Amino acid sequence: MKAVVITGASSGIGFEIARLLSKNYFVIGIGRNENNCAHAKELIYSENPGAKIEYFIADLVQQKEVNRVAYEIQTYLENNDILELYGLINNAGCVRSWYTTSEEGYEQQFALNHLAGFLLTYRLLPLIIKAKGRIIMTGSQSHKGIKICWDDIMLRKRYNPLTAYKQSKLCNILFAKGLNDRFTSAGIRAYVVDPGLVRTDIGNKQAGFLVNLIWSIRKKYGVSPEIPAKTYEFLLETNPAPKGLYYCSCNEKTYSRQVTSENADRLFLLSEKLSGISYDRLEC
Ligand SMILES: NC(=O)c1ccc[n+]([C@@H]2O[C@H](COP(=O)([O-])OP(=O)(O)OC[C@H]3O[C@@H](n4cnc5c(N)ncnc54)[C@H](OP(=O)(O)O)[C@@H]3O)[C@@H](O)[C@H]2O)c1
Repeated sequence: MKAVVITGASSGIGFEIARLLSKNYFVIGIGRNENNCAHAKELIYSENPGAKIEYFIADLVQQKEVNRVAYEIQTYLENNDILELYGLINNAGCVRSWYTTSEEGYEQQFALNHLAGFLLTYRLLPLIIKAKGRIIMTGSQSHKGIKICWDDIMLRKRYNPLTAYKQSKLCNILFAKGLNDRFTSAGIRAYVVDPGLVRTDIGNKQAGFLVNLIWSIRKKYGVSPEIPAKTYEFLLETNPAPKGLYYCSCNEKTYSRQVTSENADRLFLLSEKLSGISYDRLEC
């Protein structure tokens, strides 16, 4: 059975992806909260008692936690004879109302929405290449109309939480492009899904009063997370692999003109430096 790792699989879009994919894949979910993960697992089992699903707990804002959980997942796959890690879905994300940092001193939206996926992908890439698999990031339409602030990517000097969120979502597409530029020849593909406006609690967690209020109103106009989940299944299962980069509702979509090879390379190098890794040194 093919396995797929999904981050942020305890609620919202990630949970619905886990629920959908658990029909055909061994799902390995990552969440930060033990109770939410246990509840998610229970719900999936109650609908599908034969589902193969396991949850791992990690606060993916922190790089040491990303490294730890990646190691635990590799060990789990080996011990359970799961030979094919076909998919990695970097979906966990957050919004913040003010400047907060990870233990490494990285702005939290940048750390979770981009760097966690960058580092987790690095750790799991040899297995995904072996399976000629696919990597999918959860992006957002909000990546448009913004540039990467190269001289202050954490926005330390002038923090605006919305700008930080949008920039992290632009990073998702630049990272996917960087992966394709480097590893398509190794048989893998990377994509970004724009889920649209989705009725989840993302803006009601660890955000201030105003963000909470605005999101509570806005999310009423959102679709159910079951809708975007289908696009992830489409990108994993369509053969031959879709050639595009950015998808919404199972259709290719245009993305920002900021998504160039030059910007993708620049972000790749910077993210390697911030994570203390080098994709060139991977033994695949
Ligand atoms: N909702 C939308 O309209 C929308 C639109 C565009 C893009 N997106 C993107 O969709 C993705 C999923 O968001 P969502 O709307 O489904 O939000 P959500 O319901 O809050 O789900 C986020 C998931 O990430 C987990 N998570 C949060 N912080 C974490 C951390 N530090 N370490 C590990 N896991 C963590 C959450 O765990 P808990 O269950 O413990 O909270 C949850 O499982 C995000 O990347 C977001 O940017 C959402």
